[in-house]
Amino acid sequence: MASGIETIYTAIDVGTTKVATLVAKVSSAGTMEVIALGHSSSEGMRKGLVVDPVELTESVRKSTQEAQEMLGTELPAAYVGITGGHLTCINAAASLVTKGKSAKTFSQDDVDRLLNSTVEQSDQRRRIVHVVPRSYQVDGLQGVRNPIGMNGSQLAAESHVVVGDVATMQNLEQVVRAAGVNVHGLVIEHLASAEAVLTAEGREAGVVLVDIGGGTSDIAIYRDGALWNTAAIPVAGHHFTNDIAIGLGLPVSVAEVTKLAHGSALLDQVGPHDVIEVDSGLGEHTRPISHQTLNQLLHDRGVELMRMVIYKISQSGLTKVPPGGIVLTGGCANLHGLAEIAAEYGKCLVRVGTPSGVLGLPSELEQSSFSTAVGLLLWAIQHRHPGAVAESVTLNANVLSRLSGWFSRFTPRRITEVRV
Ligand SMILES: Nc1ncnc2c1ncn2[C@@H]1O[C@H](COP(=O)(O)OP(=O)(O)OP(=O)(O)O)[C@@H](O)[C@H]1O
Ligand SMILES: [Mg+2]
Repeated sequence: MASGIETIYTAIDVGTTKVATLVAKVSSAGTMEVIALGHSSSEGMRKGLVVDPVELTESVRKSTQEAQEMLGTELPAAYVGITGGHLTCINAAASLVTKGKSAKTFSQDDVDRLLNSTVEQSDQRRRIVHVVPRSYQVDGLQGVRNPIGMNGSQLAAESHVVVGDVATMQNLEQVVRAAGVNVHGLVIEHLASAEAVLTAEGREAGVVLVDIGGGTSDIAIYRDGALWNTAAIPVAGHHFTNDIAIGLGLPVSVAEVTKLAHGSALLDQVGPHDVIEVDSGLGEHTRPISHQTLNQLLHDRGVELMRMVIYKISQSGLTKVPPGGIVLTGGCANLHGLAEIAAEYGKCLVRVGTPSGVLGLPSELEQSSFSTAVGLLLWAIQHRHPGAVAESVTLNANVLSRLSGWFSRFTPRRITEVRV
C-alpha cells in the first residue's frame, strides 16, 4: 500500500437469520479499524438462496443504512458472503511451460494466468467463484508455497476451485445493489469464517472449520497449511428450532427463545421430572414442557449434524479428522453441548472459534455469529492488498459510544431459572 493512503472496505454477511455489515479502514501501516457497522434480522433468505428478493432487500437496506449513517457517507462497494447447495468444488491441476523452456523468474502475472487456466468455463450457467491454490511445483520441486520470485521453466499448480450457479449469485448481487450498495465481489462464507477464526498453526496441522448458522453449515477443510476442500450442509440452527417446535408443539418463535434460554445437547443435564414453563403463545399463559425432551431433541439433531460433517470429511478423501481437530463457529456453535457431541463423533479436539485473539478485535465483535462478517473484511484486505496484514483492530470512539445499545439488541441471553 502506498504510504499515507487509507482504504475503506465494506463486508456484508447476508445470513439466513441476520444481515451484518462491517466497514473498516485500513491504514498504510496495515492497521484495521472498524469504523461503522449495521445489523438487521434477515427475511427472504433460505439455505443460502434468495427466496424473497423484496423482503431480503429490505433486510439488507436496514443493515447497510445503519452502517452508512455511522460512516456518514456512502458505503464503498462491498464484499458479500455466499453459501448454499449450488456451490460445488473440484480439485484441479494445470501447468505453464516457459517459451523455449528457458528459465525465468515467475511473477504474479504468471501465477494468475496459471490459476485461471486450471478449469475451463464450459457451462454458461455456472461461474467460477474462487480458485484457491493448494500448492505449486517448480521444475518438479513439489510443495512450493509461493512461486513468485522463483526461477524455473515449468510452473504447475494444484487448486481448489469453487463454482456457483450464475442465477443464484446474480440474485444475491441484485438484492445488495437494490439496497443501495455496489458489489465488489462474492466470497464463500466458509473461507471468510476461516480467515477470522483459524490460526496458521491449525491450518498447518490440518483442521476442519464448521460454521453452523441458521440455514446452512459451511465446512472448510485445511491440510498442510492450504485449503483442501469445502462443503455446505443444508442443516443448521433453524432445524434445531423446528425440531423443538414440532416435537413439543410450540410456535417457532417460542421454540427459538426456549432453545436459547434453556437448551442443551447433552443428555445428563436434567432429570425426567424437570419442567420448564414456556410462553404458550396464548397471551399471558405459560405451559410446562419437559426439559429432558427439549434436550433430547437438540441432542438428536446435533448427532445427525455431526454425522453429516464427518461424512463430508470422509468424502474429501480424509480417513479421519486431522490433528487440528474441528473448529465450530457461527451462532449455533454456542449451543451448549454441541462441541462435546462433535468431539465424540469426530474423535478429535473441538473448540468454538470466535473472531478473537487473531487480531485483537474488540470484545463486542468476538461472537461466533460475526466470524463471517469479520472474515469477509480480512479476505478483502488480503486479496486487494496481498501481503497486507491487519495488525490491530480498534473501534473509533464514535462507534464505541453507540455499540453497547447496538449489541444488546441481539446478544442471546441464557435465562437460567428452571421450575422443577
Ligand atoms: N446460545 C445459542 N444456543 C443455540 N443456538 C444459538 C445460540 N446463539 C445463536 N444460536 C443460533 O444460531 C443461528 C444463527 O447463527 P448465525 O448468526 O451464524 O446465522 P446466519 O449467519 O444468519 O445464517 P447462515 O450462515 O446459515 O445463513 C440461529 O439458528 C440461532 O438460534
Ligand atoms: Mg452465517
